[in-house]
Formats: sequence, C-alpha cells, structure tokens
Amino acid sequence: MTDRLRLGVNIDHVATLRNARGGALPDPVRAAQVAEAAGADGITAHLREDRRHIRDADIAAIMGAITIPLNFEMAATEEMRGIALHHLPHAACIVPERREERTTEGGLEVAGDQNRLADFIVPLREAGIRVSMFIAADPAQIEASHRIGAPVVELHTGAYCDLHAEGDFAARDAELARLVDGVKRAADLGLEVHMGHGLTYDTVGPIAALPEVAELNIGHFLIGEAVFVGLPEAIAGMRRAMDAARA
Ligand code: PXP
Repeated sequence: MTDRLRLGVNIDHVATLRNARGGALPDPVRAAQVAEAAGADGITAHLREDRRHIRDADIAAIMGAITIPLNFEMAATEEMRGIALHHLPHAACIVPERREERTTEGGLEVAGDQNRLADFIVPLREAGIRVSMFIAADPAQIEASHRIGAPVVELHTGAYCDLHAEGDFAARDAELARLVDGVKRAADLGLEVHMGHGLTYDTVGPIAALPEVAELNIGHFLIGEAVFVGLPEAIAGMRRAMDAARA
C-alpha cells in the first residue's frame, strides 16, 4: 500500500473555456489556486503543441501561484522538453499527441520507440523532474517504460470509463481486470503507478481501491461538475469517493 492516494487536478478545460471567447476568463491560474485550497495534491496541465487550451504563459503563472506540485503533460518533442527544462515542474508526464505516437488503446507507444524515448527523458531526469509515461496497461508498454528508466507510469483509464458510460459492463470489467494486472506488473517492476483519463464519481472507486496506485489525475469531469456545484465541492466529492474506495 502506498501512502495516501494523491489527487492531481487537471485544469486544461478551464483554459478550453477561456479560449472559446479569446479573453482571459475563466482563469486557469485561479482554478489551480481554488483546486489547491480544495485539497488537490497537485495540479496537472497539458501544454499541447497546438496550444488548444493551456498556453505557454499559463505554465509560469500556475507555478508561481501554487505551492503544490505541477505535473506538466507534454508530447515527446524538443520544443516541449525545452519548456519543461526552463520551468522545472515537479513532474513531466509524456503523452501522445499524434496518431503515430499512440497505441491502439490510446497510450504512448513506448515499446516501439524505445531508443528515442530513452534518450529523450535523460535531460528531464537529470534536471530532477519526475518523468512518467502515459501508457495503456499493456505489459509490453509497461516493461518498455521500465527499461528506458522512467520511474513512473500513468495507466490510461479512458477505455474503462468509456465502456462504463456505454453500459457495456462485461467489456468494462474485462478492461478493469487488464488495468489491475497492469498495475501489479508495474508495481512489481518497482514503478510508481498513476492512473487517469475519463474518471468520474461512478468509475473512480475500483481504480482508487488498488493499493499500489499512488496518484490519480482527473480533469474533464471535475471541471464539468464544477459548473453545477463549484470546483471546491466537485474536488471534495472526488476526494471522498477516493477515500471511501481506499478505506
Ligand atoms: N492523465 C493524462 C495523462 C491526461 O492526458 C489526461 C487528459 O489531459 C488526464 C489524465 C485527465 O483526463 P480527464 O480530463 O479525462 O479526467
């Protein structure tokens, strides 16, 4: 059992709303501060190559406004690595953006791009940034992440959540079993295990209950729920669901 399960709140979609009008509101920096005050253990933000939500200036502004760690999600490109090395966030999660970087399950293709990714993460690690690979719960991807020296993997829960939403519970349970096996394999290799994508109050329980999991990263649902109940209550509700599952 790892220590208390951490909740990283992804604020990308506050920036999506801001950018829909082209102005400054709603402010993702304020969202990060509110999330911290509401008990988030970290803030997650993805600076996409197309800057569709988070923008370059947001990264420094968020880091300057919070005392909890920033998990910087980034594609494995020279440009993004330069930005990460400039800002030195606590963590960098390497995510796929282009089709060719993605496995069929939606995670990063680490096994097929091992040599490049092994070299790519060295400067990040040397700078003290905790590197994680966002991958499917596929033994080949987990083992490749371990081989290239990543200390952390984030397993992709998107398919599990989609199958739940579609009401295909047999397929959902099969996907959950695959995630459970993946968590065990990663933990056996000594990797720290994070999970995320698509998690909601309805789907978080079985994931939060896995004792090897150290951190969940959750965004879209929380920002959507915040429209109805406010961000602090949305986050508090997720914290309660995680703690209940873990107990
Ligand atoms: N983890 C990673 C690596 C992600 O890329 C995302 C989405 O940006 C999330 C977690 C959060 O997913 P969601 O917004 O669906 O909760």
